[in-house]
Parts: sequence; C-alpha cells; structure tokens
Amino acid sequence: MPPKPLAVYIHWPYCKSKCPYCDFFKRVQKNVPQEKIVRAYLKELNFYHRLLPNRSVCSVFFGGGTPSLILPDNINRLLEYIFKLWKHEPDVEISLEANPNSEYPDMFRQLRRAGINRLSLGVQALNDNDLRFLGRTHNLKQALHSIDEVLKNFNNHSMDLIYARPNQTLDNWQQEMEQAIAFGFKHLSLYQLTIENGTPFAKKNIQTLDEECAANMYAYTVNYLRKLGYPRYEVSNFAPAAYESIHNKCYWEGGDYIGIGESAHGRLTLNGKFYALDNPPAQNGFSAKRHKEILTATERAEELLIMGLRLQKGIDKSRFKTQCGLDFDEFINQKAATSLEKQGLLVNHPNNLAATDDGFLLLDNLIMQLCS
Ligand SMILES: C[S@@+](CC[C@H](N)C(=O)[O-])C[C@H]1O[C@@H](n2cnc3c(N)ncnc32)[C@H](O)[C@@H]1O
Ligand code: SF4
Repeated sequence: MPPKPLAVYIHWPYCKSKCPYCDFFKRVQKNVPQEKIVRAYLKELNFYHRLLPNRSVCSVFFGGGTPSLILPDNINRLLEYIFKLWKHEPDVEISLEANPNSEYPDMFRQLRRAGINRLSLGVQALNDNDLRFLGRTHNLKQALHSIDEVLKNFNNHSMDLIYARPNQTLDNWQQEMEQAIAFGFKHLSLYQLTIENGTPFAKKNIQTLDEECAANMYAYTVNYLRKLGYPRYEVSNFAPAAYESIHNKCYWEGGDYIGIGESAHGRLTLNGKFYALDNPPAQNGFSAKRHKEILTATERAEELLIMGLRLQKGIDKSRFKTQCGLDFDEFINQKAATSLEKQGLLVNHPNNLAATDDGFLLLDNLIMQLCS
C-alpha cells in the first residue's frame, strides 16, 4: 500500500482585533515576532518529517487567526521547506484564509506569488451594518475590493459568510446569496451564526434567530445552491466536485494531518496506531510542547462517525473498517439506525450510510443516537 497522503495545517493565531462571535484560539498583539515563530515552525516541520519521512503532501492550509498577516516571504519560506522535506501530490492544494484587509499594497498578488493556490476570503457579510455588528475590521467597500483582487489573482477561491444573524430575514439572505453567487467564487463556506460560550456576544446575551427561521434559511441555501451547481458536500460547504476542499475533506474523511503552531492539532496513523496530537496554547506565543494521545478503536470510530456524517456522501463502511478496525454495522446502534431510516433522516446502504436533507438539520442528534 502506498503511504497515506499527508495534509499540513499551519495555524497563525494572531489577529488585528477580536471579533465578538469568535471562539477560535487567537491573540491580538503588537510586534508579532514573525522570524522567531517561523523558525519554530520549521523545527516543528522537521520533527514531523523525522516521524513521517515518506509521505506525500496533498495539502497545506494556513489557517487562523489571520494568516494573511504572515509576510509573503515567510509563507514562501515555509512552503519551500515543506516541499524540500516531502514530495507532494500533483494537484497539491495550498490554501490560505485571508481577511479582506490589504495589509500592504498588492497583498493578494504577493500571496499568489508566495505559493498559495487557493484563497479563502472571510467576508462574513455583504453590508456595512452587519459587518460592524460582527466587529469586523473591514467595511463593504474593502470587502468588494478584496473580492476583486482574489478573483483576479487566483483560479481557486472560496468566500466565507455568516448567516442567521439577529434581525436577518430570509429575504435579506436570499438577496445576499444572489450577490455572493454573482461574484463567481468556486467554493462557498456558509456558516450559521453560533453564540459560543465565553465570547463577547454570549456575555452580551446576543440572541440568534429562532431555530425555525435558521432552518428555513439553511434549507433555502442548500436548494438554491444545488440548482446553481454548488451542491452541499459538507454541512456548511458548497462547491462543484472539482473545487471541494482537499484539506478539509482530509479532516472529514479521517485522513492524516499534522498541525503546526500554537493550538494546532493533528491526527496520524503510525504503525497501526492512531494518534491525536495537539500543541496547547502557551503563555508566550508558540510552544513546541506537544500533547500526544493514542486513541482507542472506539474513540477513533466515534470521530470517524462524527466527521463522516457531516459529508453529503456520508460514510464509506469499508473505509471505516480499514481506518479503525471495527465493523461499521456492528459499531453503530442498529436499532437507532433502523428507526432513523424509517423517519427519513438516514439512508443506510450496505456500503454506505449518509444523512438525508432532513437528517442534516438534526445531525448532532443523529450522531448521538448512532453512538448510543
Ligand atoms: C478560523 S475562522 C476565521 C478566519 C478569518 N480570520 C476570518 O475572520 O475571516 C473561519 C470561519 O469560521 C466562521 N466562524 C467563526 N466563528 C463563527 C461563529 N461563532 N458562528 C458562525 N461562523 C463562525 C467564519 O465564517 C470564519 O470565516
Ligand atoms: S473571526 Fe477571524 S479575524 Fe475575527 S477574531 Fe476570529 S480568527 Fe480573528
């Protein structure tokens, strides 16, 4: 068997300011010591190369935080180093999440020149009021300028929007979707606003839309985009098959990935064992103190189920068995599966199990029942 492809996640935890809805790990600080951090990242890459010398890299993802704050020279250095250590797949995806602020003239062209071949732009809303409400540092004019630049400089691109904002109507969202689709992005990530514990939104007791309105918006989004050739391939991700994110599919399909940087995590199969690795946040920026844990077959199986059911195509049962050693039909609660299928929430074929459109609205519940 050829060695498993490897995805590389590089976390840049720094942001210009903190958005009040966000509970991702991030820091706001002046004078980020980029040189020191990049050198630590190179060391971290060496560590993983010693562990996994013969892999082929299928994707590199710069996520955050705000990785568009990394200087292009540093992005290029990291990429050159990765591809010096490992060979890569012919269609290797090299993504970066950018905020729609140009940190320096020509930012998007420079990111392309540094080696990024897929740009994911965090637009979040297409009107100034909602951008202000979301605490973004960009306004609509800046967003439109960045959209233009991304489309000009990249052939593979994605846009993030957050919907089901307080006071947003279905009608507003329909108009925003029409506007979004007209730009011509190859991929859309559309997230329902969630109020995460401990965030400023939670402290201010900001309320999301009621469940029924949010579910209507989601149903509308899925149907509208399906008709336009952007089928849902994961709960919040929509694209023609050729533009599905290779990197994120690696997470959802239980592939191997390493996480570089503070608070990044990874999953690895090594000598028949399955490892969960993470770099816990440190007091002073980057820490190389890795936390490593071997997952049991059951823990691994649960993860595969939780991640795999997020995909439109669901879970391939024979792959599940090769990935965790357990038989899928024996692992899940068969009584629950039969009942969920009768309710029209699941499709359970001999080779595959997937949620239906109605099932997608109750995914957490489905997973809980199947694992019970
Ligand atoms: C790592 S985050 C942020 C990436 C980038 N720093 C930005 O702000 O655009 C990736 C995406 O998750 C989504 N997201 C983060 N927090 C969210 C929340 N509470 N509710 C819904 N979507 C959220 C946003 O759409 C965001 O673009
Ligand atoms: S949403 Fe993005 S820019 Fe805002 S705080 Fe979170 S990671 Fe930073």
